[in-house]
Amino acid sequence: MSDLSTRLAGLALRNPILSASGTFGHGLEMAQLVPARALGAWVSKTVTLTPRPGNPMPRIQETEAGFLNSIGLENRGLDAYINETLASVCDPDAVLIANIGGHTEEEFAIAAARLDDCPKVQALEVNLSCPNVDGGRLPYSTEPATAERVMAGVRAATTKPVFAKLSGNVTRIEDIALAAEAGGADGLTVINTLLGMGVDWRRGEPQLATVVGGYSGVAIKPIAMRCAWQVCQAVKIPVIGCGGIRNAEDVLEFLAVGCTAVQVGTASFSDPACLATLAQELSACLDEEGIATSAEVSGRLARNLQCEAGNL
Ligand SMILES: Cc1cc2nc3c(=O)[nH]c(=O)nc-3n(C[C@H](O)[C@H](O)[C@H](O)COP(=O)(O)O)c2cc1C
Repeated sequence: MSDLSTRLAGLALRNPILSASGTFGHGLEMAQLVPARALGAWVSKTVTLTPRPGNPMPRIQETEAGFLNSIGLENRGLDAYINETLASVCDPDAVLIANIGGHTEEEFAIAAARLDDCPKVQALEVNLSCPNVDGGRLPYSTEPATAERVMAGVRAATTKPVFAKLSGNVTRIEDIALAAEAGGADGLTVINTLLGMGVDWRRGEPQLATVVGGYSGVAIKPIAMRCAWQVCQAVKIPVIGCGGIRNAEDVLEFLAVGCTAVQVGTASFSDPACLATLAQELSACLDEEGIATSAEVSGRLARNLQCEAGNL
């Protein structure tokens, strides 16, 4: 069997496959279907300092090739997360990355500081990029200086590894990636959902109550891959690819582009157990090609392109 073990910003993971925030609850809800040992790590739903009711319904819509959602970071707030959700995590196999959000720069740092005291949380993912809060107008994922300040605040507040989750809804994702790296991010998750919308033309009504929401799933894979590639070229820290990943081939494609690990989101909605077997499929795929470790695949594309350029 191929070796899938992965080093990610100091974390020792069983494999490079993570669940994507907001699509897997807090891991607990899915434990019957997907045991913690099947995954490299769980990334939990974004938690904010205070409870948020989320956006009005309807806020989820299936499309031809993915999902539109405008959940709007519904969550019970940090106190309930720490005292109830984290208190229920008792699987010794669980590697948990807590995803945090904030309405102000200070809120991100306060959430990071509070979670720093929680031994069950191994790392933090900072959601700079939710398109469903304030119509996606918050500047954390679109202004390099703001992204850098948020990450610097979080970095100063915690000793745990911190990942910045970036948006693809920008002109030059490399600029935001470099800013997050300068702010002290240990890694980057690329990407969150892309802005999208749908309409019922007969009724003249939007499919989502917020009209515009976040688009995810198989259709965004080429865009997510392009973003991951551009970010991998720009930064020195590890990149976690995310967007439209459904099977072992997809995982290996994102690794080849330069990612160290990947996250799977929308695919869990059509097949809630897909993450239970994905690592085995990945291993079988590598075995078939005679590749001993998944880490060998990471960065293959850039290495080949450099070789070709050198031969010209
Ligand atoms: C219903 C839904 C809820 C989501 N909630 C969050 C969230 O709370 N925090 C976050 O960082 N990303 C959230 N995301 C984005 C996913 O984590 C992921 O970045 C995105 O869906 C792209 O990956 P995919 O195509 O594999 O789904 C959500 C996505 C969906 C579909």
